[in-house]
Amino acid sequence: MLNFASLPPLSLYVHIPWCVRKCPYCDFNSHEARANIPEQEYIDALLRDLEQDLPRVWGRIVHTIFIGGGTPSLFSPEAIDRLLSGIRARLPLDQNIEITIEANPGTVELERFKEFRAAGINRLSIGIQSFEDEKLKALGRIHGREEALRAAEAARAAGFDNFNLDLMFGLPGQTVEQALADMRTAMALRPTHLSAYQLTIEPNTLFHARPPALPDDDTAWEMQSQLQAELAAADYRQYEVSAYARPGYECRHNLNYWKFGDYLGIGAGAHAKITAASGITRLWKVKHPNEYLSTAGAPESIGGEQQLSRHDAAAEFMLNALRLVDGFPSPLFQERAGLPISACEPELALAENKGLIEWDARAIRPTPQGRRFLNNLLELFV
Ligand SMILES: C[S@@+](CC[C@H](N)C(=O)[O-])C[C@H]1O[C@@H](n2cnc3c(N)ncnc32)[C@H](O)[C@@H]1O
Ligand code: SF4
Repeated sequence: MLNFASLPPLSLYVHIPWCVRKCPYCDFNSHEARANIPEQEYIDALLRDLEQDLPRVWGRIVHTIFIGGGTPSLFSPEAIDRLLSGIRARLPLDQNIEITIEANPGTVELERFKEFRAAGINRLSIGIQSFEDEKLKALGRIHGREEALRAAEAARAAGFDNFNLDLMFGLPGQTVEQALADMRTAMALRPTHLSAYQLTIEPNTLFHARPPALPDDDTAWEMQSQLQAELAAADYRQYEVSAYARPGYECRHNLNYWKFGDYLGIGAGAHAKITAASGITRLWKVKHPNEYLSTAGAPESIGGEQQLSRHDAAAEFMLNALRLVDGFPSPLFQERAGLPISACEPELALAENKGLIEWDARAIRPTPQGRRFLNNLLELFV
């Protein structure tokens, strides 16, 4: 049995599963929008889906909402407004709630950003990936350098003082200098948050079938180290493997995942994790947009549901929390995984002996070595 003195903070994830075009490296649940997107039907489905989930979280306050995809910025501001009004009518929201939407360059302009803001969105996450036309083409993106720059400038002009830019590095044929140039351009746009993801080749993608020539591991590590150093010098502090923020602008929604908080997930393929006195449940919705549209709100929309075992709860906590540069205070383990930290004593001791974590009065955190070889560290807990 897991044992909880209190419930963790609650977030809400909303998945929008359509894109203009499927990128050859992407394994997210996203589908090329061949015809018109059934926007109104999808918003109705999301709200039915939320209704069905409500009994799992009665009385709990939502602290963050993240509308991700896919390309949520393909949805009209009116649709996003109706979605947020519907959520407000059904769930108590924190007064200082963070509400993020993902936006792709090439699908947004100043007016649309202003209307998203008026609807209640207070944070943008823009998928830049690179500022080089040639690299963007190799990634199959629908935008070029100009649209990328314009999207970031429009975010600020629309009044978003809190926005993130997603960049990828380790791109086909990329040099360390090119990766740095992309990051310098991003920093010059003065976002509050930057994400730098190393391009990975995922199964079931076009890049997996026909892999492009990528920089080798040492070059990718060189990129990561130099990016970190330049970001740190510009006051963007790394707080997770791929996430950098100005002080106080860490993404609260993602931090809640990494600290093993709870979240509802509505939309095609969306995942949820909910703690109750009896334990931790994971559940997910059916993945395909058409199946989701026809079942949302009914039990058939649940793709699966699983109670976490003691072992799963401990392992999943570590897999998340050890991604954080500051690690976690040891009492958080009992609070969120429902077990005493002694349940992980042998694995923690081994990780410490290998020089992968350090443990003091304030926190258990990965060492620089642990961050460099994060997979070796996380494997110890699986
Ligand atoms: C949920 S995705 C979608 C965001 C948005 N649709 C876009 O592509 O601009 C969030 C981010 O994950 C990153 N990403 C997606 N696939 C990746 C891959 N194979 N390797 C590394 N990063 C990836 C990209 O930086 C992307 O912006
Ligand atoms: S736009 Fe984003 S979500 Fe859509 S296919 Fe490309 S990477 Fe995936």
